[in-house]
Amino acid sequence: MSRSFATTTAEPSWSALPPPEGNSLDGVAQETGLRLERFAHPRQVADHVAALLLEQRLGQPQRALGLATGRTMEPVYQALARLVHQLPSGEAARLRQQWRSFNLDEYVGLGPEQPQSFAAEMATRLIHPLGLTPAQVQLPDGQAPDPQAEARRYGEAVAAAGGIGLQLLGLGMNGHLGFNEPPCSAEAASRALELRSATREQNAAAFGGKPTAVPERAITLGLREILAADQLLLVVTGAAKAEVLRRVLHEPPSAELPASWIRLHPRVRVVADAAALPG
Ligand code: GLP
Repeated sequence: MSRSFATTTAEPSWSALPPPEGNSLDGVAQETGLRLERFAHPRQVADHVAALLLEQRLGQPQRALGLATGRTMEPVYQALARLVHQLPSGEAARLRQQWRSFNLDEYVGLGPEQPQSFAAEMATRLIHPLGLTPAQVQLPDGQAPDPQAEARRYGEAVAAAGGIGLQLLGLGMNGHLGFNEPPCSAEAASRALELRSATREQNAAAFGGKPTAVPERAITLGLREILAADQLLLVVTGAAKAEVLRRVLHEPPSAELPASWIRLHPRVRVVADAAALPG
């Protein structure tokens, strides 16, 4: 990828962590470890991440992009829409034509008509602003009659597309990735599962502030599909996530902290603001 779409003059401070010793994933070579990029402000994080997503879509259109939802990603999609609107018209048209992405997860029982669904979130934040079609932005079908079968179908759809090129990831307060709740092995495949109470509390704001109004179950891509992506891009902002991010970066990978498995992946970027990554 030769072009850079960075819109901020802010340069991140970065460092590379070596992969942890004594752990390895079958078939995953340890090459470069993990690159940490730290910006002063969440707005700079969003601009930087949006530029990386755009580079992936234009530079590697044959590889599907893996997307995430959540509050961390709201400014990322805003920044992405701004960048796309600044593209020359031919390039913007090529981007629209070639867009292909798979989201990580969806609540069981919710569909695009419900504003709290991730499908609705993607329609509002990505499909409409970029002028895409829903078929280009795939998510698990939260309203499928058999969620477990739907999870399998979705995992197979990702595999049939050749897997994920760049996988965007947010971080749950309990260390989940997608909805891979702890404990979770690195081999866990796409599935329907029960959400932890910590997660329902974390996501309650979208449901009138009531954790009990958050669906009890969700469909998620597994750590297996996530770790099979060519490259991982974990985005973390805000002081509330500083402690869980510290554990992800420094504790030995374990099922108790699903996000810690990213340290076994050969190409990982962690982009954080100063509040999430102090010091
Ligand atoms: C949610 C989603 C994840 C998201 C993460 C962080 O529960 N399932 O895909 O990335 O948790 O969410 P937020 O950015 O709102 O803190």
